[in-house]
Amino acid sequence: MASANTKEKPAPGEIVAVLRRVLSENAREYLPLYGLAVLCLLAIAGATAFIPWVMRPLIDDVFYRGDFGLIPLICAAVAGVFVVRGLATYGQAVILAKIGNNLVARYQQRIFDHLMRLGLDFYTDTRSGRLAAQINENVLGVRDMLSMTLKSIAGDAVLLVALVGAMIALDPVLSAIALLIGPPLIFVVNKIMRRLRRVARASVEVNARLVGAMQEATQGIAIVKAFTMEEQLSAKLSQLIAEAESQANKIARVSERVTPISEILAGFAIAGVIGYAAYRASVGGEPPGSVFAFITALLLAYDPARRLARVQVGLERSLVNARMIYELLDIKPHQRDMPGAKELDVGKGEIRLDRISFGYAPGLPVLHEVSFRAAAGKTTAIVGGSGAGKSTLVVLLQRFYDVEGGAILIDGQNIAEVTKHSLRRQIAYVSQHPYLFEGSVRDNIRYGRPDATDAEIEEAARLAHADEFIRQMPEGYDTLVGENGVTLSGGQRQRLSIARAIVRNAPILLLDEATSALDNESEARVQEALDEIMKSKTTIVIAHRLSTVVDADHIVVMEEGRVAEEGTHRSLASRKDGLYARFHRLQSERGLGLVDDAAMAGEAAFDRENVK
Ligand SMILES: Nc1ncnc2c1ncn2[C@@H]1O[C@H](COP(=O)(O)OP(=O)(O)OP(=O)(O)O)[C@@H](O)[C@H]1O
Ligand SMILES: [Mg+2]
Repeated sequence: MASANTKEKPAPGEIVAVLRRVLSENAREYLPLYGLAVLCLLAIAGATAFIPWVMRPLIDDVFYRGDFGLIPLICAAVAGVFVVRGLATYGQAVILAKIGNNLVARYQQRIFDHLMRLGLDFYTDTRSGRLAAQINENVLGVRDMLSMTLKSIAGDAVLLVALVGAMIALDPVLSAIALLIGPPLIFVVNKIMRRLRRVARASVEVNARLVGAMQEATQGIAIVKAFTMEEQLSAKLSQLIAEAESQANKIARVSERVTPISEILAGFAIAGVIGYAAYRASVGGEPPGSVFAFITALLLAYDPARRLARVQVGLERSLVNARMIYELLDIKPHQRDMPGAKELDVGKGEIRLDRISFGYAPGLPVLHEVSFRAAAGKTTAIVGGSGAGKSTLVVLLQRFYDVEGGAILIDGQNIAEVTKHSLRRQIAYVSQHPYLFEGSVRDNIRYGRPDATDAEIEEAARLAHADEFIRQMPEGYDTLVGENGVTLSGGQRQRLSIARAIVRNAPILLLDEATSALDNESEARVQEALDEIMKSKTTIVIAHRLSTVVDADHIVVMEEGRVAEEGTHRSLASRKDGLYARFHRLQSERGLGLVDDAAMAGEAAFDRENVK
């Protein structure tokens, strides 16, 4: 947690700045509701401060002078005070909860929308489980921050002022004695707050790591079991659990320090007041009513004073939560549209890559000056070994990342200069890692085009050879698939992703190993259907299997981030020592499905021959 502790400390004025930001972003809509809550809180404060005023006539007039006629009035007043307090407390609590829940909803929406805008680069270095846990904890923290502020300012502070006012009016000298505890209390609370600030951030981070680790372990449960990683993971997790536990204890120890200190100081104040009042009574013999009234006010004031001291500490914690939320919301998405970006206007759909260079991390280039042309309405295949940069090309075409050098042009328009939305609308993409969202099979296909009819969805599924297995599922197209499509096989998932891309009916089709998980026979059938669809579209297809590639109009062979060769199957296969020719030979000889394996086997074979 060293990193958490070394984070720069917020300036003292920052609690105000963050509070102001939270309020300015949210307060306006809630103004009427806040007004209502404040009214309730004022009613509570007024009713409570009224109690000491009843004490004086009760003692002096009723018990001391024996004026029992006042009794019904006093009883009615006391009962009335508690009725008001009860109703107002209820109203205040419900209103504040309503505001708080709405606030949570708004931040959740805002954060989600923001997450959707952030580029893929953000997700490359963020663990999703950890992120979700952190967001959850922080949003709840901000909710508490607002209701606490309001309750403490409008409720406890007003009540305290009213009661201290009552005390001073009743007896200025006794008030001075009681208020002596103020300065040391403020000093101590300040010290505790500063310490808590550090502990709170560390705690949120540990908790998020813990929840994230749990989520990852359960998501990868099959691998966990296959590699009998249970004990290892359990040991790793128990460290995090212990750390979270000790952080929580630390927070409790630090923030609870307020309680004994305020208790002790209050004890001194009350003892001082009683001692001095008794001394005065023994000397002057004044009636006890005002002293009782004063002590009642003092005891009543103790509660809000203690709560105020605690709220400071709680606020300090929520401030950390609010800061962390804004750190996330303030991240600027990288691939933003240029000012005045135009809509992409796709005519024929010709794609040109002009000497593009790119790396995911600085100093680690993945693509070096890659240039080629994918002719409009034709199929261009990209082949090459694992890690050659094929998927990266397809990702760049959709502008998930910005290229470092060169340009990608679609019908002559640089994709960096058009809106991302208009670019992606023209593209149907089947990722190398098919992903299914929570929902029905039908929903998952419809994500391709929200206004697709059921008939279009079923037609797409038929073309992707998914219709048959979908119909065999318990509820057909309405069967729910889990977040990872747990109930579907890899090939079935791929076919659903293909159906999703078919439904999209976009002029540009990007297929990244779209059929790699299918057996030869299903692949051939899906390929047939795809051929039909690809006829009128500009298609870029990445494939390891040569069978998918041979019919392409143009083939680009990638090697270590560079274009090694390009041409048609016929021209490339006839080059004796070409890379493609070698892949081709190995695959047809050994019947291997993967260029990769073949390439490796081939390279190993070459090495052995060289040694001999
Ligand atoms: N999100 C990422 N962050 C950082 N590096 C990445 C990322 N994705 C890929 N790389 C790296 O970029 C290089 C090219 O990866 P890419 O996925 O484009 O290869 P590929 O040709 O599609 O390989 P395969 O045939 O195995 O799918 C690899 O060295 C890989 O480690
Ligand atoms: Mg790939």
